[in-house]
Amino acid sequence: MNVILGISAYYHDSAAVLLIDGEIVAAAQEERFTRKKHDSAFPKNSVISILKEAGLKGSDVSYVAFYEKPFIKFERLLETYHEFAPRGIQSFLKAIPDWIREKIYMKRILKDELSGLGICARIIFPEHHLSHAASAFYPSCFEKAAILTVDGVGESATTTISLGNMGKITLLRELKFPHSLGLLYSAFTYYCGFRVNSGEYKLMGLAPYGYLSERTLRYISLIKETLVDIRTDGSFLLNMEYFDFATGLKMTNNRKWEKLFDLSSRLPEAELSQEYMDLAYAIQQITEEILLKLVATSRQITGCENLVMAGGVALNCVANGKIQKSGLFKNYFVQPAAGDAGGAIGAALVVWHIFLQKSRIIKTPDAMSGAYLGPSFSDKDVDNLIRNIGANAERIDDKFLFEKVAALLNSGAIVGWFQGRMEFGPRALGNRSILADPRSLEMQKRLNMKIKFRESFRPFAPSVLEEDVAKYFDLDVPSPYMLMVAKIKPENRLTISNDYGQLPYREKLNYPRSELQAVIHVDFSARIHTVTQYANSRYYALLRSFKDLTGCGVLLNTSFNVRGEPIVCTPEEAYVCFMSTGMDYLVLGNSLFCKRDQPKENIRQLKIELYD
Ligand SMILES: [Fe+2]
Repeated sequence: MNVILGISAYYHDSAAVLLIDGEIVAAAQEERFTRKKHDSAFPKNSVISILKEAGLKGSDVSYVAFYEKPFIKFERLLETYHEFAPRGIQSFLKAIPDWIREKIYMKRILKDELSGLGICARIIFPEHHLSHAASAFYPSCFEKAAILTVDGVGESATTTISLGNMGKITLLRELKFPHSLGLLYSAFTYYCGFRVNSGEYKLMGLAPYGYLSERTLRYISLIKETLVDIRTDGSFLLNMEYFDFATGLKMTNNRKWEKLFDLSSRLPEAELSQEYMDLAYAIQQITEEILLKLVATSRQITGCENLVMAGGVALNCVANGKIQKSGLFKNYFVQPAAGDAGGAIGAALVVWHIFLQKSRIIKTPDAMSGAYLGPSFSDKDVDNLIRNIGANAERIDDKFLFEKVAALLNSGAIVGWFQGRMEFGPRALGNRSILADPRSLEMQKRLNMKIKFRESFRPFAPSVLEEDVAKYFDLDVPSPYMLMVAKIKPENRLTISNDYGQLPYREKLNYPRSELQAVIHVDFSARIHTVTQYANSRYYALLRSFKDLTGCGVLLNTSFNVRGEPIVCTPEEAYVCFMSTGMDYLVLGNSLFCKRDQPKENIRQLKIELYD
């Protein structure tokens, strides 16, 4: 038996994955255990969890794969400072002790961490973008594919195009730091008052509130004329006079940006004015333009019909939807953990297929097991929780559970749905999800205010029976990992007024526009999750029951967490989240908890902040 442990760590979204004889058997992100969102620490808890899940010990590990080459990354950091000197001397002096500790001595640090877990296997360091490329290609069902990776930066590459052919990956094109689409998008994220490395989703969610006004067209021209020079093949150059990420501790030169856009940088939590929405719209358009050009080049230089993608930018599901719709490729696969967490999968697969030269066994639809690769909990675990907390729950057989929960959802209840193995990657796909009726006009607002405690503009996504996706949406391919955005069909829209596009954002947000109002964004788009019996039989059964009852094969699905917290991992965390938010019911496996029936006094003693 060959056991490969893949690790990504020390930047953001640390994760660990286990391959047994080349098969991805378990994967988890460290944030889910430490409860620190985007935790970048060595993923000790993840390693313990995935070994336990596979019934293995540390000494069973044959190789460890780390998702980048730390020394080359250190060289890039030094070269950058040298090139831009004397700019950035302060941040250089501040950062150098950390770099020396973390980057140069990485191997030793890793060895120490691993030996603490009983692992003394050889460590291999594939390159960052090769790890991304491998994470997209090897788990896909394609023998041959063009591979596009786009992110902030790895060692020095920021964008690559490769050809994947069975076990081989051949690099064809590469763009290098500081010219980075990920960092360009992050610069706008920062300028619009959101956090870099986590607020990019918010910027993408904000973009549809912008529209093609004179101002937006001016923003688009200014960005293209001043900030980024886009070539026909999708390569581009950033004007580094306007960016501080290479030398400073900030993303942008705010003074220059404020002069350029005649708009001050937005402070976090400040009111969102139309200008920021138009700016978000502009950068989203430019991101799509660059990506579509890169996709066209990928097609041209590989001659392949299949495209696979990874890297943080591949999580831009609006762009993914446009790429799919462009028809440039016949088939697509995006690694569900396209960000750096997924680099752990890729690094491990590089060791298996390239270093050990093991051939591929192709799985359909892919080798990611629906991304259900994290820990699971038994009925016994749930019973222990009920006993320890003194909670009240009703155990319901499968025969009645799905019907019962469907009826609760139809009556307007918000339900925490916790089943089986935790998802790997940023999306909840029906195992750690909060569910609601998408037809409700009030649900988007209610969920943002009473459950997620987050910005009111943020949209929610639909889960839809795969067989029904084309009935509702302008999409005729599966989107099992919620990585594709498409518009709702005209027949599922309500009539809107002519001035809808120009309405202030709050009015637009609450404007009745669709029979699936709660999951349709203001521009009629939706981030779609298609569900099959094969991928998730329990969630599929619930969706079927909801459809049998209501005629609607769609549910609102949002991740089981509140703003600023990672998705819940354990039944106890789910229960705490249930009790401290406005959720009405919780389902842990086959146990149904009703909010009204929970003994509040006992729970107060456990220091859960109750939601009233
Ligand atoms: Fe990356």
